[in-house]
Order: sequence, then structure tokens, then C-alpha cells
Amino acid sequence: MTQKELDEIAKKFKVYDSDVFVVAYPKSGTTWMEQIVHLLRNNGEQGDQVLSEAVPWVEGAANRYDGLSHLMKPSSPRRYFHSHLPYSLMPGVSHTKAKYIYIARNPKDNAVSFYYHCCSKLNYNGSWQDFFDLYVQGKVGYGFILDHILEWWHASIFQKNIIFLHYEQVHKNIENAISQVANFIDISLNDTLRKSVATKSSFASMKSNSLANLDWVPQRKGFPKHMRRGIIGDWRNYFSDAQNAIFDDLCKKKLAGTELTFDFG
Ligand code: A3P
Repeated sequence: MTQKELDEIAKKFKVYDSDVFVVAYPKSGTTWMEQIVHLLRNNGEQGDQVLSEAVPWVEGAANRYDGLSHLMKPSSPRRYFHSHLPYSLMPGVSHTKAKYIYIARNPKDNAVSFYYHCCSKLNYNGSWQDFFDLYVQGKVGYGFILDHILEWWHASIFQKNIIFLHYEQVHKNIENAISQVANFIDISLNDTLRKSVATKSSFASMKSNSLANLDWVPQRKGFPKHMRRGIIGDWRNYFSDAQNAIFDDLCKKKLAGTELTFDFG
């Protein structure tokens, strides 16, 4: 993403109070939450659009969807977007009543998922160790994960228009997460809708759903697809003891003085 594209968004992207944004650091369950909100607003039905059109990507607009103008729809029906932008660059967040659903994932699992993303979608050729070194320095897209999460977490304490959820919490009790999200975006929920959304947003169901699995995004052969494993604790299959120690130290320093914790599985 270029500075010009970011400037365009800041200047031209008009946010309405009725808008809903799904926000996450990349590889934290963005698509999963998009599917949940999309099903909620669509009475549990998938419809016929691919997810990335039904819940378009704000900062990806310059390269996809014929530019920002594609996103400039009227405020009704309610607009839904997704984004990976940090709080400080997010349109509308501090001065509108638009709703922002932030999903955070434990950074160890995030690192592994991000590594595969870079290999399969961005032609990254480095080893896991090479990637790890870049990741802990924040030299990856959207910068260092803990800076991203902390900025949103702090804002969510004071702003009623932000809900802060953890990937692991959604994983362990999806029906509860669906209720929280529905309540936050004022969508009335009954048992049938809750169960239908839970079923259609399960990992297995999304993986086999050509409108939700992101298989349409070009990627390198021989690497895992977007719907890769979807589990908590996969990092244990990749992190060496030394990498784990570096990471724990980093988390300790960054999270000192906050009450933010992660479930590492
Ligand atoms: P893994 O690579 O660990 O499998 P994003 O959409 O932000 O890019 O996040 C992608 C990660 O979310 C991938 O993690 C993907 O498998 C996981 N994911 C997507 N849908 C999921 C679901 N329904 N349940 C659990 N994990 C899901």
C-alpha cells in the first residue's frame, strides 16, 4: 500500500454512523469475522457474492474493486467493510458512531499464519527463521502486531463504538461471540439464526464454501490455502525454544502495565 492510497482514504472515504467495520491485524481471523457479520446481516444466508465483495476491504480498494469510488455507496442499506488499518489511520473511528469490531489473535499463532500467507500469496522465499526475525522487528505488512493490537485495545476501553474480541475466545465459544457481535451491531438474534451463523462460519464449512474460503485469491502452488488450519496453539509446531524465549520477552515488555493477556493454547 502506498502513501498516496492512504492519503486518498483519509481524504475521500466518508464514514457514516451506520457503517460497520471488521478490523484485525492480518491473519487474525478477519475473514472469519467478516463471515459472521455477513451472515448476521443477511439472516443467516450466504447470498451470491464472494465475501470480499460483500464485506469489502477498505485499504485494498485502490487495487481492487475499481478504486475507492466502488466503496462510496449511500449509507442505506448499511455498509459493511473490513480493514487491517491501525487505529490511528482508521477512517471515522474517533469522531463517528460507526461500529468497529476488532479481533486480536495470540501473536505466536499469528506469526505462523502470517509466514504461510507471505509464502503462498506474496511469493516470500525466506525460511521460517528469516520470517521470524522480520516479524519480531515489525518489518512485515502493518508493522509489529503488538503495537497494532495495543492501540486498538486502549481505544476500546474508552470508546463505545469499538468491541475488542479475541480469536481464541471466538474459537472456544462461537455462539457466545455471535451473540456479542449481534448485540453490538444491533441485529436481533434468535436461536435459529445463532445456530445457522455458527454452523456456516465453522472452519469446515467456510473451507468448503467457495464464496467464503478465499480460494479466488491468486496464490503459489504447493502452499497452504487461506483456510489453512484454524487452530489455537499451532505455533508449538514451529517455534524453537530460543524463538519462544525472544517472543515471551517481547510480550512481557510490550504488555507491561496493561491488563491485556493472550491465550496461547
Ligand atoms: P491459520 O493460517 O492459522 O489456519 P485472516 O482472515 O485475518 O487472514 O486470518 C486467517 C486465519 O484465520 C487462518 O489461520 C485461517 O485458517 C483462520 N480462520 C479463518 N476462518 C476460520 C474459522 N472459521 N475458524 C477458525 N479459524 C479460521
